Amino acid sequence: YKRITTKSLVDMKSRGEKISMLTAYDFTMAQIVDGAGIDVILVGDSASNVMAGHETTLPITLDQMIYHAASVVRAINRSLVVVDLPFGSYQSDAKEALRSAIRIMKESGGHAVKMEGGKEIKDSIKRILNAGIPVMGHLGLTPQSIYKFGTYTVRAKEETEAKQLKEDALLLEKLGCFAIVLEKVPAKLAEEVAKSVSIPVIGIGAGSGVDGQVLVIHDMLGMNTEFSPRFLRRYMDLHTEMTKALQQYSTDIKSGDFPNENEQY
Ligand code: KIV
Ligand code: NA
Repeated sequence: YKRITTKSLVDMKSRGEKISMLTAYDFTMAQIVDGAGIDVILVGDSASNVMAGHETTLPITLDQMIYHAASVVRAINRSLVVVDLPFGSYQSDAKEALRSAIRIMKESGGHAVKMEGGKEIKDSIKRILNAGIPVMGHLGLTPQSIYKFGTYTVRAKEETEAKQLKEDALLLEKLGCFAIVLEKVPAKLAEEVAKSVSIPVIGIGAGSGVDGQVLVIHDMLGMNTEFSPRFLRRYMDLHTEMTKALQQYSTDIKSGDFPNENEQY
């Protein structure tokens, strides 16, 4: 396999080839995702929810993100690995942001960082890009700002927020970001944004008019039964499949069926 780079993603957009992206937080899962030919692996701060059981993405630390990212990177042959800068690691000032991004690159071996926000984090994005670290933007519903929004519903339904979002997308492109994640905004707006920039726009709950799609892997595998937003397509019912397997295992132990003669020394 030829390795995916930030440049190949921009080339894919110009060819009209859609980009596939999924989250992963650990070695074994990342091995499967990479082997399946997914273009981009996101070590998302959704690890805070999915791996650690927190209600929001806010509590996860930079050290914890580095641990997840390093585990993912060890599994990769082809995919581009993008690592979320967690809440609190880049908002104070541009120097702190650069220090955090450098730690991710050095200590995990990830290939790029992702940051939530537009013009309000412009200086930090610039500084990180100046150090040679590729940055993926993230606009629309930005979960690190959940306490400002108050809800996880669709963003930018009104004109003022939509206008700001379009400006932010142009700004991110101008600064030199290689891609933008656009989360939970109306499909028509997302398509407009994707058409207005030459860098790929990767959507989650942003419709089909964008340049690629991302989902949280545990959600699309159906491991999570409670989280059911409209944009989520479940490709497996792994919760049910796993539960059946675990129950069978327990039954086999209790009946004395496991282990059998061939399963011992
Ligand atoms: O952390 C995450 O999983 C994300 C994706 C939903 C884009 O940021
Ligand atoms: Na995230």
